[in-house]
This record gives sequence, C-alpha cells and structure tokens, in this order.
Amino acid sequence: MTALSLRSPVLVTGAAGFLGSHLVEALDRDFSVRPFDVQGESVIHGSVTDRAALESAMEGVEALVIGHMAPNRAGMYDDPAIPFDINVKGAALCLQVAAERGVKRVVLISSTAVVGRDLAARRFLSRDLPPSPHGIYALTKTLQEATAAYFHEQYGMAVAMLRPAYVVSGDDLVDKYGNRKPGVDWQAIDPRDIAAAARAALLLEGLGCEAFYLVAGPEAEEHADIAYTMQRLGWRPQYRFGDFPRQAAPAASAALIQAR
Ligand SMILES: NC(=O)c1ccc[n+]([C@@H]2O[C@H](COP(=O)([O-])OP(=O)(O)OC[C@H]3O[C@@H](n4cnc5c(N)ncnc54)[C@H](O)[C@@H]3O)[C@@H](O)[C@H]2O)c1
Repeated sequence: MTALSLRSPVLVTGAAGFLGSHLVEALDRDFSVRPFDVQGESVIHGSVTDRAALESAMEGVEALVIGHMAPNRAGMYDDPAIPFDINVKGAALCLQVAAERGVKRVVLISSTAVVGRDLAARRFLSRDLPPSPHGIYALTKTLQEATAAYFHEQYGMAVAMLRPAYVVSGDDLVDKYGNRKPGVDWQAIDPRDIAAAARAALLLEGLGCEAFYLVAGPEAEEHADIAYTMQRLGWRPQYRFGDFPRQAAPAASAALIQAR
C-alpha cells in the first residue's frame, strides 16, 4: 500500500485529548493536520457521531487518525450505550466517510485492552493473540479494531492499529487525569512516542492491516512484541522511564476493567 507523502492532509479525531494534542503537535511537523474534537481550542468542532461534520472535515483528506474516546467519567463505562455510540459507531462512521472520500490510510489508536485477559494473566502479548477483552471499554476497543479490519478488507485501506497500554509522561509520570504516579511498570508509554509511531505508520510503504504494541517501560520487550513494532516501523521509544522507581504491574482485576 503506497504511503502518504509529506504535507498530506490528515484528519485527527480526539485532537484535544491527552494523547490527541501530542498527535497533532508531532504530526503537524510533516503533514497538514486537521484536528477534530467536540471540545478544545484550535480544532474543528464536531462529533464523530455527526456525519455532516465528518464529511466537511474530511474533504480532501488523505489519511485518518482515530484517537477519540468517550470520556472516562464515573459510571461511563458501566453501560455500553454512550461508549458504543462514540467509540464504536463513531469510529465506524469515520471509516465509512473516509472510504467514501477515497482515504486509503488509517491509524487507529487502539489499546492493549483488546487482549486484556492475556495481559491480566501475564502472558506475553504477541500479535497473533485473539481478542480477549473484559469490560465495556475493552470491548469497544476490540470492536474498533474489528471494524477497521473490515474496512481494510472491503476498501483496501491500509490500517495500523496502535496498542498502547498506559499513557503517561516520561518527564514527570503524570497521566491523563493529572495524577502523578509514584512509579512505573513495563506498560508505560509516553504520548510523544505514540505520536512517533503514528507518523511512522503514515509513512510506511506496504502497510496492510497490522497491530503494533506500544509499551516502553522497564523490560517492556519481555512482556509484549515491541520488537516487531521497532523492526516494522523503524520505531525507537525515546522515553524508557529508567530513572523512575519501579512499580509492580496492577492487579489482574484492575487491569481487566480499567478504561484509560
Ligand atoms: N490514556 C491512556 O492511558 C490510554 C491507553 C491506551 C489507549 N488509549 C487510547 O488513546 C486514545 C486517546 O485517549 P486519551 O487518553 O487521550 O483520552 P482523552 O479523553 O484525553 O481524549 C479523548 C478525546 O476525544 C474527544 N471526544 C470525545 N467524544 C468525542 C466525539 N463524539 N467526537 C469527537 N471527539 C470526541 C474528547 O473531547 C477528548 O478530547 C483513545 O482511543 C484511548 O482508548 C489511551
């Protein structure tokens, strides 16, 4: 699949979010980014559930980065209604409008939650694991991946499914909720390293429909197949969290149900 060229227009959903703002900042150096979100400054305001808003924002776009998620407010992920509307139907509508516009390349911000039961069982996260979600959040991420894979089959879109685990700043261990963590485990990944992987996926010649684990905490290589990510994307995480105290990976039950 032919890669994007530099300065191509790229739509980023969830652009005002914790990760999205880093995606926009990094990708805008090489592409012409159109940030799309329901909130925030300097973005195209619109919802991924609004076809007209997506059609207008996607005019002339050559690639799509799906990075939105239903807000993780108290109780939000106890019931499927809103998470399915925003995460699943919203992603599907983005992909449908993209297909109609002839967009040939998609980066989906997924999650290790799609293999959450294997994660909780402390199995090595290989790329051939079947989905094993637990909890509504994980289920929505799994359905996003299944939907993106369908669009790959149906329309020949090149799809990179990026699977970060726990997004946290490599400068100070502050996460999306503004919480500063006392330590890190292997699941940590800095948002700037996710943005670097997204950039590489947009530029990768011959991309099919592929999943890439993105973790970079201590000994991440022993827990997930980031060797493939490095080899295939030419990706090297810049933030390895080596100067911070180590913390044991969360208890299985928490890892299973947590929406991040
Ligand atoms: N934060 C983590 O630790 C983590 C871990 C793994 C995967 N992820 C994935 O990363 C992506 C970004 O997560 P984040 O942590 O930056 O979350 P976030 O909540 O900070 O950002 C999500 C953004 O999506 C926007 N949004 C919500 N509803 C929308 C709608 N209807 N239309 C358009 N935009 C909408 C929000 O306004 C927000 O700006 C998500 O797909 C999430 O599943 C995050």
